Amino acid sequence: MLLRSRIISTGSYLPEKVLSNSEMERMLDTSDEWITERTGIRERRIADSTQAASDLAYEASRIALERAGLGPEDIDLIIVATITGDMPFPSTACFLQDKLGATNAAGFDINAACSGFLYSLYIADSFIKSGKHRRILVAGTEVLSKITDWDDRRTCVIFGDGAGAVIVGPSDDDSGLLSININSDGKMWDLIHVPGGGSRNPVSQSSIEQRMHYIKMKGNETFKVAVRTLEDIALKTLEENNIDPSSLSLLIPHQANLRIIQATADRLKVPMDKVFINLDKYGNTSAASIPIALDEALQSGRIKEGDYILLEAFGGGLTWASALIKW
Ligand code: ACO
Repeated sequence: MLLRSRIISTGSYLPEKVLSNSEMERMLDTSDEWITERTGIRERRIADSTQAASDLAYEASRIALERAGLGPEDIDLIIVATITGDMPFPSTACFLQDKLGATNAAGFDINAACSGFLYSLYIADSFIKSGKHRRILVAGTEVLSKITDWDDRRTCVIFGDGAGAVIVGPSDDDSGLLSININSDGKMWDLIHVPGGGSRNPVSQSSIEQRMHYIKMKGNETFKVAVRTLEDIALKTLEENNIDPSSLSLLIPHQANLRIIQATADRLKVPMDKVFINLDKYGNTSAASIPIALDEALQSGRIKEGDYILLEAFGGGLTWASALIKW
């Protein structure tokens, strides 16, 4: 029988500072009503000025390790999904390795925006199946508040900071990751991107004046593509396993926008009481959103042994992905 991987444990961390919609009303021309109706977001967490992506990932990873009953030296690979790494290089995985003392691990980062966690899980799954690795730490961590244009009401109300982490290892029964699919379409790169700071537009006086180091997003176009692509990839993942959406115990979507989540659930005919939502508290935390949601779903008893769980995400790239788990 082909080796299967499984998520052994989870952990998450959210910065303490809460930024509510009503506080945002005082910062820019917006309203709690607009944000809640259009997005479902009521508040988000904001990292303090000293916190970088690896600091948040460290807190989430520490919890995941503890729950797995493992020490940092047991980890043989660290994959960090982020678009807000501590520095352009070295990788945030290397900073995390150092903080944890995971001296036996190799580490690298994955950039697939909001799909980054599922892309990383895809790699972890393949590496476990190959037999090359046995204990992989996968973290999704973002400090989006530091690349958000706080003068742009079309984007700044959406994003938040946070981190989630999981430990992936081999399964010894039929539970675990049944399928993961990933996809991308680079033609749509300009729907969500940060134009400045890379080799295309290096940091300069002019790039800063043009606010090129902040997120630019065509929200409305992204919205439409998201609903279509998420339905397709979710159905593909379910069909590969002959699982009908009605057999799902829980759908854990990337927490981008409540209307996107509702539209996708509608198309899959999954009732909203089987959909996990926490974006009202945290907003869109990009690569961190699914591991945080998975952790909260587990800790609140929404997932039981034998349950079928579907994870799905889309984001900048464009990228999209979906994973089916038998817990
Ligand atoms: N407060 C008040 N009014 C606002 C705000 C705001 N915060 N933002 C925009 N508006 C106004 C606009 O100016 C516009 O007014 P106009 O018609 O007078 O020009 C009106 O509201 C409608 O704007 P739209 O952009 O069309 O609003 P929409 O309904 O599309 O909602 C939103 C915007 C919430 C961004 C939505 O499009 C969305 O969620 N898109 C998907 C975003 C996403 O999920 N991105 C992917 C992941 S991100 C990543 O990968 C890092």
